[in-house]
Amino acid sequence: MTAGQAVSLRRVRVEGELGSPASTFARDVRKGLLAATKYLPPRYLYDALGSALYDAITLLPEYYLTRAETEILQVHAGEILEALPNAEIVELGPGSGAKTRILIEAALRRQAIVRYHPIDISEAALRSLAERLAFEYDRLVVTAHAGDYRRVLLERSPRAQAPTLVLFLGSSIGNYEREEAVTLLRGIGGALHAEDALLLGTDLKKNARQLERAYNDSLGVTAAFNRNVLARINRELGGEFDLSTFRFVVAYDEERGCVDSFQESRVEQRVHIAALDMHVPFSAGERILTESSYKFDDASIDRLAHACGMCVTAVWNDAEERFRLSILRPASG
Ligand code: AVI
Repeated sequence: MTAGQAVSLRRVRVEGELGSPASTFARDVRKGLLAATKYLPPRYLYDALGSALYDAITLLPEYYLTRAETEILQVHAGEILEALPNAEIVELGPGSGAKTRILIEAALRRQAIVRYHPIDISEAALRSLAERLAFEYDRLVVTAHAGDYRRVLLERSPRAQAPTLVLFLGSSIGNYEREEAVTLLRGIGGALHAEDALLLGTDLKKNARQLERAYNDSLGVTAAFNRNVLARINRELGGEFDLSTFRFVVAYDEERGCVDSFQESRVEQRVHIAALDMHVPFSAGERILTESSYKFDDASIDRLAHACGMCVTAVWNDAEERFRLSILRPASG
C-alpha cells in the first residue's frame, strides 16, 4: 500500500452489516409465486450479476434516464448546492457513484472538507465505492452505511452544524408502489431538519414508444437483467426454471404512468424449486411481474411530496425535459 492509500483508507468507515439473508429471499419468492397474480420483488434483481447488468443498462442508447440525470447535475450542481452551504451529503443506493462524483466535485470547489455518507444494502459494493472515492478525493471523508437508511439518518451523530443533502437519484423512487414510496419518503422527511433537503430524481411521463424502448433495448441487456431473477432462483434456491420457456414482456400502462416488466411463460408448465419444496404451476401466457417503473409529472411529484410532509422548493429538467431533479424540504421548515 502506498502512503496515499493509507491516508485515504483512514478517511473511510463502513458501518452496519447485512445483505438479504437467504431465508428472506426464499420467503419472498414463495409468497410472490403463490400470489394470484405472480410477482417477484424488484430488489432481488440486484445480485452481483444483476448489478453489473444494471450498470450496462445505464450505457444503452435507449436508456436515456442516466444520461439525462447526469446532464442536469453537470449543468446545475453548483446551483443545487448553493442553498446548502457546507452540506454533508447522504446518498441512498449510490450504485457506481458516477453521478455522485459530479456533486462531490462541485461541493469540493466550495468547501474545505466534504462528508459523504452512502447507504446501501450491499456491503461489498459500498466498501469498494467508499475506498475508490476516498482515494480519488483527498478532502472527502466517507462513512458508508450498510443497512437501513432511516436508522442511519436518525443516528448520525453528533448532529452536524452543516445542513444535510440527501440524494435519492436515478428514479429509484419509481420502483416503489405509491404507498411504499410515501412510507419511504415520509421516513426520510421525518429525519430531516428544516435546513436539510432531499434531492429526488424522477423520470417524467412521456410517449409509450420511447418508454417501452428504454425498458426493452435492442441488445437484450434489460431482458437479461430481468431474467436474471429466475436464474438467481435456480442458483440460490435450487430452482429448475428453463429460461428459454420464458419471454420478456414490457408494457407502459398510461393510466398508472408505469412501465411494467414481466417474465411470461411460453408454455403450460410446473417449475420445481427445491429449497421451497414446491412446484409452481404456470399456464401458457401467464406472467410474473418482475418490476414496475413509475413515471412522474408536476402533479404526481407535488402529491408525493405533500403526502410525505414535504414540499417541492426547486426543480431542474434536462434540455429535452425527459427527467427531473427536485429539491424537497420538510413542509414545516
Ligand atoms: C433502478 N431503476 C430506477 C431502474 C428503472 O428505470 O426502473 C431499473 C431498471 N430496470 C430496467 N431498466 C432499468
